[in-house]
Formats: sequence, C-alpha cells, structure tokens
Amino acid sequence: MVIAIDGPAASGKGTLARRIAAHLGRPHLDTGLLYRAVALALLDRGLPLTDSAGAARIAEALDVATLEEDRLRSREIGEAASLVSVHPGVRGALLDLQRRFAAQPGGAVLDGRDIGTVVCPEAEVKIYVTASPEERARRRFRELAGRGEPTTFDDILADILRRDTRDSERSAAPMRPAADARHLDTTSLDADAAFARALDMLPAGV
Ligand code: C5P
Repeated sequence: MVIAIDGPAASGKGTLARRIAAHLGRPHLDTGLLYRAVALALLDRGLPLTDSAGAARIAEALDVATLEEDRLRSREIGEAASLVSVHPGVRGALLDLQRRFAAQPGGAVLDGRDIGTVVCPEAEVKIYVTASPEERARRRFRELAGRGEPTTFDDILADILRRDTRDSERSAAPMRPAADARHLDTTSLDADAAFARALDMLPAGV
C-alpha cells in the first residue's frame, strides 16, 4: 500500500508521514530532501540555481544515502530547493527514484508536493495536509530557533508565502491536492491530534 502525503512547507506533513510509517512499519521518504540535496550540491559546486542542465545531472546521480546531512534542513536550502524544483529535468530524474521507492514490496509512505498527483497517482491513500501560513511560520520559527539558526518570524512568514506561490504556480508538477485526496487542516491540531485524524483516513484493517 502506498500512502501519499502532500502539502505546503511546515504544514505538518513530514511529522505525520514519519509517524504513519513507523506505526505501519513501512519505509518513509521525505521527497523534499531530494530537492534540497540537489540544491545543496549545486551551491557546493558554485553553480547557479538556474543551471537546469547542471541540476538535472546532479539529480540523476543523487545518492539517497546522503540525505541525512544536517545542512539540508536550513532555511537557505529550503528556498534554494524551491528554485531548483522548477526545472523539469530535475523533476524527471527524481521521478524514477521516488517511484522505485514507492514500489517496494509492502509499500511505502512518501511526503512532498506532487506525490498524489504525479509520482504515485495510483496511491491507495492520499492525504493533503494544510495549515494557515501564520501557524506554519510559527512552527518553522520554533524549529529553526531550536537549531540555533538566527531568523525572525516575519522573514519566515515571507519565505513561506513566497514558496507557496512558487510551488503552486510552476508549470512542472505544481503543488495541488489530488482530486481524490482527503484534506487535513492541522492549524489547530497538535502532532498527536493530526496523527489520530490521519489514522481515521487509512483503510480499515491496515
Ligand atoms: O518539503 P520541503 O520544504 O523540504 O521541500 C523543499 C522544496 O522542494 C519545496 O519548496 C518544493 O519546491 C520542492 N519539492 C517539490 N516536490 C516535492 C517535494 C519538495 O517540488 N515532492
């Protein structure tokens, strides 16, 4: 069974996907990390984020084993990931990798922006997770402050709004809910309550 969890930055989709995967004993892939890894590799090589051919070459050679890198989770790399994710060559290269992950025996849980629409349109379970931009900015602010990254709430809110616009307006695999996705608004839910709601969305007996 493939479980597709999509939604905007800091909506709670990553935490939810990890918990569902642990609960079901299935592997989990945070697909945002793939785009972040491509962006980080470009920056490390001194290449511009607009270099679509260079970005696609990096995406084709991406090693999933490098996704543990702490630097991937910074604010700068989130923004850079959104810029490289518009290149169709990058998306195409990462598509195969994501589909292979989803095709594991027993299934998998994937979270991102286009899992239910493009990567795994046949997924048995699709959940589209949202929360208000202000609540998402509060969460991201707490997370980055906890990591010691200097930032302000207003800057994070501006980042989030800019990324929402770019991710939903790009022509290649824009962020949007699949027609058959269940919607989960986590604005006033903590992680436990969101997890409980998501469990109700799984088919009986899993
Ligand atoms: O989810 P996360 O914030 O780590 O994603 C970073 C960026 O990667 C997003 O803003 C988006 O542009 C891109 N992304 C994507 N498709 C996915 C996952 C992430 O385009 N499936």
